[in-house]
Amino acid sequence: MPAFLDSFRAQLDALDRRARRRRLVPRTGADFASNDYLGLAGDPAIGAAVAAAVARGVPAGSGGPRLLRGNAPEHEALEARAAAVFGSEAALYLSNGFAANMALLAGLPGPQDLIVADALIHASAHDGMKLGRAKSVLAAHNEPQAVADAIAAWRAAGGTGRPWIVAETLYSMDGDRAPVDALAEIAAQHEAMLILDEAHATAVLGAGGRGLGAHLEGREDVIALHTCGKGLGVEGALVTAARPIVDLLVNRGRSFVFSTAPSPLMAVAVEAALERMIAADDRRARVGAPLAHAAPHFCALRYLLYFAIFCDIKAMKTIIFSRAAYRDFEALSADIQAQIDATLDAYAMFGRGDVKHLGGRNAHRLRSGRYRILFAEDEVTILAIYIGKRETTTYRRN
Ligand SMILES: Cc1ncc(COP(=O)(O)O)c(C=O)c1O
Repeated sequence: MPAFLDSFRAQLDALDRRARRRRLVPRTGADFASNDYLGLAGDPAIGAAVAAAVARGVPAGSGGPRLLRGNAPEHEALEARAAAVFGSEAALYLSNGFAANMALLAGLPGPQDLIVADALIHASAHDGMKLGRAKSVLAAHNEPQAVADAIAAWRAAGGTGRPWIVAETLYSMDGDRAPVDALAEIAAQHEAMLILDEAHATAVLGAGGRGLGAHLEGREDVIALHTCGKGLGVEGALVTAARPIVDLLVNRGRSFVFSTAPSPLMAVAVEAALERMIAADDRRARVGAPLAHAAPHFCALRYLLYFAIFCDIKAMKTIIFSRAAYRDFEALSADIQAQIDATLDAYAMFGRGDVKHLGGRNAHRLRSGRYRILFAEDEVTILAIYIGKRETTTYRRN
């Protein structure tokens, strides 16, 4: 008789065979991979704000969902501050961005509505749409016309409810930005609601780190999602929107209603992080010059993400580093090489599109030289294959 856990072991073995098995590993060495873009996770000012809150008796636990005595003054103070900072009428703080997308997309669109989401939208939006009552379709990545066409087709087929347009503002795996103004225009034309997931832009892009849709906040047809665990360096997510939207989320967002509120101490941390974000132009500038600050080594894909963001490379699809850079990789110590391999594998697991093609067996490909990835201390040569276009560029560390 097969052992009770055999079927689970078989699934893991199958993942292993496809080089797709994820494992939790202790974090050691240099940070090649996190989303802590501005280095705020260990920021002393944020830590000090939490320490001061502990000293004045703010509890670590919220004790329950916000609607069931878990609502602390720190949550409300954060939400008021966030609305002021981002320029919205109201804000809601949730445990994380995943929960926020679930609350938004499963909770707000009704059965008569249509959700049109970008084809590369995050897993949490997909899961929210799956759980929700609205019909949903994916539109070609970053093609506003595809969004407009999907709405028009739905209306022509008798769609009576409200369309919802869902996009990220900066796509982290691809490094490209959404055409937010075109999407906002389509939303206005079709009386649609526009949800902008700023997860990877918040704190990094836009004036004061307010994101790529900052100029649209305050519009009644725009909802923004600012996750707090990436550029802000802490945890949770802020939905910024018009008051009725936030109030409805408090009633209908199941991952908000039926879940213990985040720690009041984390709300304090996020509020402090918002202040750091506003004042972090220097850090944002350094992210813009990654070669200047990411010494001594860089992570290929993370570096390229920075690069794609700040150099406005559109639709960067496949990246192959030069032979010289590969030699530099070989010159790195074995443990740094192993770390980079692991990082690339992790990206491959999360990856999509051509990023995936870099992955899975990166270690092997690196060693075989099929993909020549990596780094010079003072020079990086990048061969980037864009859609239909090849370019080689050498960047020198200044
Ligand atoms: C676009 C996007 N939305 C939402 C999330 C989820 O945010 P969180 O990590 O706070 O759950 C992520 C996280 O990777 C993301 O990339």
